[in-house]
Order: sequence, then C-alpha cells, then structure tokens
Amino acid sequence: MRIGVFDSGLGGLAVTQAIIRRLPEYDYLYLGDTKRVPYGNRSQETIHEFVSEALTYLFAQDCQIVILACNTASAEALRRSQQEYLPAYYPDRRVLGVLIPTVEAAFESGSVERIGLLATTSTVQSGAYSREASRLNQTATVFAQPAPLLVPLIENAGQKYLGPILDDYLAPLIDAGVDRLILGCTHYSLVKVEIRRRVSVPVLSQDEIVPEKLANYLVRHPEIEGKLGKGARRDYQVTDLAPGYADLACAMAGETIRLERVNL
Ligand code: DGL
Repeated sequence: MRIGVFDSGLGGLAVTQAIIRRLPEYDYLYLGDTKRVPYGNRSQETIHEFVSEALTYLFAQDCQIVILACNTASAEALRRSQQEYLPAYYPDRRVLGVLIPTVEAAFESGSVERIGLLATTSTVQSGAYSREASRLNQTATVFAQPAPLLVPLIENAGQKYLGPILDDYLAPLIDAGVDRLILGCTHYSLVKVEIRRRVSVPVLSQDEIVPEKLANYLVRHPEIEGKLGKGARRDYQVTDLAPGYADLACAMAGETIRLERVNL
C-alpha cells in the first residue's frame, strides 16, 4: 500500500519531495486538486467536501495513510475526517495533518509564549493553530497574519515583488514580539530564505519538520508501517492539467516530475 499526500494544488510538492528524501523506500501517490485550487478562501463546508472526495479517491488507489499537506485542508477538515469520515468508511486507514507536527516543533526548543503565524485567510480564520497551540501550552498566544498574496506571487514567478509584501505581512508579527514564526502554508517554504532574512526569531518551515515527524509516526505505528509497499514508486496526479503546470510542478518539487491528470 502507498503513502498518499494531498494538497489543494501543486504547493504540496515541496513537502512531498522532502518526505521522499527522508523516507525514500516507500511508495507514494501525490494528489493535487488543481481543478479547484485555491482552497485558501473557501468555506469550511466546501473544504470538507473536497477533502472527503480526495480521501475516497486516494483510499481507492490503495493509500494506507494520507497526509494532508495543505494547511487549509488540515485546519478546516482534518478533525472531521478523522472523527466522521474514517470511522464510517475506512476505519483501518489513517489521515494526518501538518498543523499538529508544526505546533509541536514550535514548542520543542526553549520557552515559547508568542507564536507568529503566516497562513492563508481560511487557515487564520479557522483558529486551528491557536487551538492546537493552547492544547500544548495554555499560556502561549498565536498572532496570526493572513498572507493571501503570497500563493499567487509564488505560483507566478513574482519573487521580485515579494520584498514590500513580506515586510508588510511581517511587521505586525515583529511588533507583537513573537518568539517563533510558523510558515503555515504549503508554498511558504519556497520563500523561507527571504522570510528568515527579515526576522530574527526561529522560522518553522514544514519541509524541515513534517518528514521527521512522519518517520517518527511510522516507527511508533508498526501496524501501519508494515502495510506500506517499499518499491520506491512515485505517482503525481492532478485534477486539471493546464499549460504551465508541468513547469510549476517541477519548480515546486525542486526536481523533474511527471504529472498525470485524473478525475476524482
Ligand atoms: N495549499 C494551501 C495551504 O497550504 C495553499 C493554496 C490554497 O489556498 O489552496 O494552505
């Protein structure tokens, strides 16, 4: 069986390739819902519906475990998927998100009271990062900044316009005196260098966190790990294949990959 990675589009390829580099032996299936991207400004109900459809597809394609690489999907649909979808349809499969590992990593080094978050508007509005942070540390506060311009900029090679936009998004977090900064969106790891240059606190980038957390999870769950195929097979599927997606996918992945179009 395979490890599935789901994202609203192509941004999740960055963390997927980081996972594959850390755990190269397993079989992977990446699914990007490029037909309906972006998720970052949609309602919770719609995101839950899209995620349920993606899970049905990925489980039918023999995924034992699915990682929601998309922060928006993790924030809006993970709990409901775990509490309603899995028990009803696939009780022996697993769905994991990226929020909890990221928040755990934020607390792992030193004392942390004020956590800064950059994320999509939906992720910020969901309050999911604040909820997860207060589960681990009741005195910590999350200062969340929606950064809706970053995804289109990164996807359209707009790096040269990044400077003033990043300065603007980061200013309230710097003013709030945050002691950690979470990059809570698939795409932001691609501009982590520019972000690190602008802040003096540790910046948590999911491509540096999620692979190790998954490796750890698989060690702690031999009943899941034992079912995974180890043929190093990788498939990359998308729900729409427009001109330019092939190049964008390679840019997100940091290497050449081949996309295949599928219907959910
Ligand atoms: N994948 C989304 C996330 O990590 C960003 C793109 C979108 O809005 O769908 O939040």
